[in-house]
Amino acid sequence: MPSLSLDDYAAPNPISQNRQGIIGRAVDRYEGPLKVTGTAPYAYEVETPSPPAYGVVVGAEIGCGVVTAVDDAAALAAPGVKLVWHALRRPENQPERGARSYVGSQAGAKPVFAEPNVRFFGQPVAFVCADTLEHADAAASLIKITYEETPAAFAFDPAQAEPVDGTSAIGDFERAFADAPVKLDETWSTPIENHCQMEPCATTAWWEDGTVTVHTSVQMIKPPQHLLSETLQIPRDHVHLLSRYIGGGFGGKGSTYEDLELAAMSSREIDQPVKIALTRTQMFNATVHRPATVQRVRLGATADGRLTAFALEAATHCAREAPFVERAANFSRALYAAPNRLTGHTLHKLDIAVASAMRAPGEASGMLSLECAMDELANRLGLDPIELRIRNEADVHPETGAPHSCRQLVDCMTDGAKRFGWGKRNPKPAATREGEWFVGMGMAAAIRGNFLLPAKAGIRVEADGKVIVRQGMTDIGTGSYTIIAQITAETMGVPLEQVVVEIGDSGFAPTPGSGGQFGAASAGSAVYEGGMEMRKTLAAMAAADPASPLFGAAVDEIDFRDGLITASNKSETLGALVSRRAPSGVDVVGESMPIMESRAFSQHAYGAHFAEVGVNAVTGEVRLRRMLGAFACGRILNAKTARSQITGGMIWGVGSVLTEQNAVDPRYGSLINQDLGSYLAPVHADIVNLDAYFLPEVDDKANPLGIKGVGEVGICGAGAAVANAVYNACGARVRDYPITPDKVLPFLPAL
Ligand code: MOS
Repeated sequence: MPSLSLDDYAAPNPISQNRQGIIGRAVDRYEGPLKVTGTAPYAYEVETPSPPAYGVVVGAEIGCGVVTAVDDAAALAAPGVKLVWHALRRPENQPERGARSYVGSQAGAKPVFAEPNVRFFGQPVAFVCADTLEHADAAASLIKITYEETPAAFAFDPAQAEPVDGTSAIGDFERAFADAPVKLDETWSTPIENHCQMEPCATTAWWEDGTVTVHTSVQMIKPPQHLLSETLQIPRDHVHLLSRYIGGGFGGKGSTYEDLELAAMSSREIDQPVKIALTRTQMFNATVHRPATVQRVRLGATADGRLTAFALEAATHCAREAPFVERAANFSRALYAAPNRLTGHTLHKLDIAVASAMRAPGEASGMLSLECAMDELANRLGLDPIELRIRNEADVHPETGAPHSCRQLVDCMTDGAKRFGWGKRNPKPAATREGEWFVGMGMAAAIRGNFLLPAKAGIRVEADGKVIVRQGMTDIGTGSYTIIAQITAETMGVPLEQVVVEIGDSGFAPTPGSGGQFGAASAGSAVYEGGMEMRKTLAAMAAADPASPLFGAAVDEIDFRDGLITASNKSETLGALVSRRAPSGVDVVGESMPIMESRAFSQHAYGAHFAEVGVNAVTGEVRLRRMLGAFACGRILNAKTARSQITGGMIWGVGSVLTEQNAVDPRYGSLINQDLGSYLAPVHADIVNLDAYFLPEVDDKANPLGIKGVGEVGICGAGAAVANAVYNACGARVRDYPITPDKVLPFLPAL
């Protein structure tokens, strides 16, 4: 497959020509009606070829130690029980942890209960499989596990965090900071947060002739397929992994959990399909979370607001045996110009559950410090916060010097300000009051990197003219199904109704899946390439076919439009050609590869958030009154799904500064709030009058579609705009999130 150049990206193509107007249209999500009517089978609900058994996972009741004894006699004798596994009764002949015996495996073996160690509270330590869920649950409660506890560290302490690689030091920060006429040195802290996907992690598995079929809920298809191949010690093509409908991922399903391997292994053991779903409690305690951070920001500026020194140093934590760094400082390297800069991270290893990716890992918590620090600095300088940011806008990447692919950060701020009515803001805090409520406005910038990863797409045209896309891509609720159909229809010049999209299947052409807001660009570019390849194939077929009206036409003059293959005034349908020449259908595989030329550009999605809040003068409660996001994310494929991605991120941003937090119990290392009643994600009543829009943009350095990721940039900076609005409303500068009433009250004037 020849790879494209930047000239190819910029040249007119079916996506930029958009002759049917399908690109950008607010097409409803294909799977929306299926999901809301309960007819989209989620992994746990997939119908099995014969009646399934049900698995229940038992979590450790200590935070750190060793399983020394298990009394499972009662569980084994309980009604309907088919199998009990734990560290002292484990499946035989498992491979070593991490073993990779097949070439090119993207994941190593994950044997179950391979060691007696407990590394975090809630870690799966036993498993019961029974004929019904009720029997499995009942039997699981009968298992008695004896532990030997060992000393543990449960409390995040930035002072104990160790430096990690990747510090960036440019110029002489300390000296420039010391010399700066205007300074700020403050510390922010963000709590542990959880994904709270509506659909829990779940797997349904069954075996037929040595091949296991696995329906599971994951963001990426290949790694779990390879993990099972290694764990089960069977060739990769004996693992058919599917993830067709997914009820939320947000990074938490970029990892897999014991439901995956336990379902496959127990199903093989009992020779019956098995279903396992994690409970809501297990989703909190036994999957991954966004770790807490403590971030020190130091800004030094001239009296007219030019940053001369800038530092963001972030401490965070992770599980002792699962290295992960929440890189809260990274985004800031690409944001504001300043000659002297220092950014880096430290890490405290703890004996609590695994820290990992959650929507916009790094930015989501990192922007809650710097974007508030900029607001504070603007205040000290007597400058409007937008003006301060404009004075420090970076013409090129501030650290690498790379040119921007395109950057409308300032446009987002100025255009958004106009639409929001920023001009009405009184810069003096606590100056606007409506009855019991202080009212204020705040803003913040948004930035998140844009990426393109290698991907493939299978395109098939059938004898009836139907265009079928098959791709190992996932739709975690973002709209992948729908935008893949839109790209295909416009590339092939056929109506949307003529396209069928099948994704979430390990048998299909691989993609990197959904994550890091790279999904649409990576999978979509492969779909585009596949469509163009199909056009070439069909054009050659028509030109060479004496029975075609296009017989003898020059292949490069053959066009695809209005559902037809055309040349000058002659045409036929795709179906007519294919039914005549290749009645069993025509298949091609498209492939998209990132190009080096493109990587020379600094590529990000940008935005600006504006929030208005009310702060209750009596209770300190903060209510969002309205919020607007202005974004620039390249060409927009679908006005509805793209806006929805952004507003979803913004809503999460509101939650992350006002209500969301997971507290760790210092005695057990468990997360104290383990359900949606006590983990306070925003609900409809919390979110009023929230909207987002996009500035016109095409990023012709990013990919052939000119698009950029929208999945994560919406949360970036959103919470900071709310926090800044709280300050403007009532003068409370709370740097320890979330901004709960108890933290606001001390700032409020006596009644
Ligand atoms: Mo994402 S949080 O990189 O799936």
